[in-house]
Amino acid sequence: MGHIWLIGLMGSGKSAVGSVLAERSGLPFYDIDDRVERISGRTVSDIFFIEGEDAFRNLEADQLRTVAAEPDGIVATGGGSVLAESNVATMSDSGTVVLLEVTPETAAARIGDAGTRPLLGGDTLERLADIFADRAVAYRVAAEVVVDGNDDVETVADRVETACDM
Ligand code: S3P
Repeated sequence: MGHIWLIGLMGSGKSAVGSVLAERSGLPFYDIDDRVERISGRTVSDIFFIEGEDAFRNLEADQLRTVAAEPDGIVATGGGSVLAESNVATMSDSGTVVLLEVTPETAAARIGDAGTRPLLGGDTLERLADIFADRAVAYRVAAEVVVDGNDDVETVADRVETACDM
């Protein structure tokens, strides 16, 4: 079957939906941001601010490759994982890439205070709308399956199961 790689904007529900899918299926759950934090001993924010975004992107790519070789499971990626074509290749070669598509309004409402997200700050909705506009094509190109993520976690998890024949 391969992995189920969940992609999408910050606040699209990748981690929440991924945990539910893993619980329901009994498959392992991998969270790329969590793994980057564990391996580096720093928070994502600290990596961005101290070492810079490129350093974070390298760690993210390393973890995507590492997880690709692990037993089949559900993977919550970071929202920027589609920015590198090599990441997209790693994901599609090792499973199904599923886009949780949400509006910037949904994402902003879920995130609320942008506190721990280094790419946000200022007006969260405005920033998310900009990021969404920049990445909309990349998300669509990377995705083999697109699921409407603008609903509660259980409903979105149902949609992924149906779309992926889980
Ligand atoms: C990012 C999304 C974050 C995290 C980092 C960069 C992005 O992950 O990887 O702050 O570029 O969209 P989430 O999508 O899990 O918030």
